[in-house]
Amino acid sequence: MTPLDVDFVRAQFPAFASPALAGQAFFENAGGSYMCRPVIERLVRFYHDRKVQPYAPFPASQLAGAEMDEARTRLAALMGIKRDELSFGPSTSANTYVLAQAVRQWLAGKGAIVVTNQDHEANSGVWRRLAADGVELREWRIDPDSGHLDPDDLIALLADGKVRLVCFPHCSNVVGEINPVAEICAMARAAGAYSCVDGVSYAPHGFPDIPTLGSDIYLFSAYKTYGPHQGIMAIRRGIGAALPAQGHYFNAADLSKRFTPAGPDHAQVAACAGIADYVDALYGHHFGGNAAPLARGRAVHGLMRSHEVRLLQPLLDFLARRNDVRLLGPSRAEARAPTVAVALDRPAESVAAALAGHGIMAGGGDFYAVRPLEAMGIDPARGVLRLSFVHYTTQAEVARAIMALDQVL
Ligand SMILES: Cc1ncc(COP(=O)(O)O)c(C=O)c1O
Repeated sequence: MTPLDVDFVRAQFPAFASPALAGQAFFENAGGSYMCRPVIERLVRFYHDRKVQPYAPFPASQLAGAEMDEARTRLAALMGIKRDELSFGPSTSANTYVLAQAVRQWLAGKGAIVVTNQDHEANSGVWRRLAADGVELREWRIDPDSGHLDPDDLIALLADGKVRLVCFPHCSNVVGEINPVAEICAMARAAGAYSCVDGVSYAPHGFPDIPTLGSDIYLFSAYKTYGPHQGIMAIRRGIGAALPAQGHYFNAADLSKRFTPAGPDHAQVAACAGIADYVDALYGHHFGGNAAPLARGRAVHGLMRSHEVRLLQPLLDFLARRNDVRLLGPSRAEARAPTVAVALDRPAESVAAALAGHGIMAGGGDFYAVRPLEAMGIDPARGVLRLSFVHYTTQAEVARAIMALDQVL
């Protein structure tokens, strides 16, 4: 297996060369990642040279539209979906909000939806509110000790064939365990339901391969995935056509516009092509050659994962050994993302502040995962300390985080 060249990776992120961030080890990536150079360059170029209404017949506008189209085409190809199956929106929370309005009209007070208590609130509250419109909500619950979401528990929830939509996370932003998305989507499909997967916590660790995952809707946030502040949704044609359009009526025939009622942020949409540039640069540097986009995405995913898993295990071992912290989620790196939350005997934010004194940027709080924390018996007001990293993190930074934790805990 080709190892990830971390020096090459870090050279693609201006933040690592910034004097303002020198000496700081970044462990709040699940809140928002650093932005890669191609995204920044595209964003600046757009604002300098193309900041006009796109798709008009003059050069700056044509270039603006072409760059927005390029972002759509290349990201869709990386994910293995059609161009119009990709929607941009202001954020994942805004995207699920719009989807929920569509589902409310579609179900018209009939049928049931499965939600979990492992999800971030963005893929939970909007669905639960549909109960007020007569939709039956069924909660798929985590194990209160481990935070594990067991697919076996879904069987009973789907048994009567009334469920129309199953909403769940690829990976929770506090539990970190990677859920078997393909298996769960297949279960939903077999029961006549669509699937809606929150991939926000997982996508930074590998771009979604939608054909393999089999999701009907997959959401993630580009600003946590080396890009600008955009929400990205992959909506397959079947569910996209079934749900009532939420945009202008005359745009309803265009799937890419059906669930984006707000005018898009042109510059940020265009800059998203820089994410594809980055994946291609990683692929070219490590593998050379010219594979199809989906294959490039898969190969880069593998690179990121093996690096992250190798760095993660010592941190998990350190935390699992201590009896003054409660590690949430699996203690085996292969089973989880490097988004590591621990419950403590004191407010987590104060510990994050103490870590900041050691040059460790981490967070403490509920991370909008109030339901999972409560389900695991953790007071959201006290919160959890979370250290989250990605593939650009080095072994030395993880060692430094462990040393700092040893001093502040
Ligand atoms: C797992 C998860 N889902 C959804 C969201 C919401 O994403 P956005 O900020 O794009 O609305 C977050 C944000 O932290 C998250 O961590």
